[in-house]
Amino acid sequence: MNSLISIEKTESIAIVRVNRPKQYNALSRETINQLDAVLEAVRQDASIHALILTGEKNFAAGADIGDMTHLTPQEAQAFLFADTFRKLELLPIPTIAAICGYALGGGLEMALACDIRIASEEAQMGLPEISLGIMPGAGGTVRLPKLVGIGKAKELIFSGRKIAAAEAFQCGLVQQVVAPEDLMSAACELAKKLARQSMTALMSAKTMLNFSAEMPPEAAFKMEAGYWSGLFGSPDQVEGMQAFIEKRKPKFNMQK
Ligand code: CAA
Repeated sequence: MNSLISIEKTESIAIVRVNRPKQYNALSRETINQLDAVLEAVRQDASIHALILTGEKNFAAGADIGDMTHLTPQEAQAFLFADTFRKLELLPIPTIAAICGYALGGGLEMALACDIRIASEEAQMGLPEISLGIMPGAGGTVRLPKLVGIGKAKELIFSGRKIAAAEAFQCGLVQQVVAPEDLMSAACELAKKLARQSMTALMSAKTMLNFSAEMPPEAAFKMEAGYWSGLFGSPDQVEGMQAFIEKRKPKFNMQK
């Protein structure tokens, strides 16, 4: 069987691609099973320090509608991609969605589970589920409002309209917009920059950023203080501060 998800490793970066170009990378259940397995392998590989998720021509035009047409509520639960997207969100390393073409429905929800989104100028994004008589079910109603605010999220989800990269940037859905030919180089440049950071410190910050908004503020401040103070005495804290004093670049531990 052809691989629906490919992975390429360059230095400490993993580039993961959805590979169903004829279906505009629509996500079948098997595609998500393969993505899940790849994410598990990435999680266990100490040499990978950043991940880029992308697709050829299109990021992903949503869940495969043909596969969903006759699902019962119980079958729909089993079809759902939420667990795999949560696994993506909780990967300890930084993740970047490099969005080209369409990122719709479950495709956009996959991008929302990444830490940072970079879009090509021609990209189009949206959550059109309501026009199919369903609603976003793989994190869209949870993650989109955190990025764009509740009013904009409701407007986008209720209308189902597609937005261009410029509007996505303006509302905070994507963090950078580049020319189509520069998409992968921009994503790789950022990934390499992040992969050179202290992984110990970055992973602690990512954990806090993932959970702080879901916690009562007092608990979040306490947890943050615990993570912050826990970094003191780590090889990276010693090296990072010593390098500053000695006016040189730090050499961080390359294990995560
Ligand atoms: N599922 C299955 N097949 C899809 C698909 C999808 N989500 N999106 C595109 N395709 C297929 C088309 O069926 C077509 O295949 P054939 O050539 O075999 O007919 C091929 O990809 C190209 O699509 P179009 O001919 O429609 O190309 P277009 O350029 O005219 O339009 C498009 C592109 C705007 C992306 C349009 O295909 C479209 O609207 N796709 C559906 C988008 C959508 O509604 N996504 C949400 C799905 S629901 C979801 O994701 C649920 C969830 O919460 C998890």
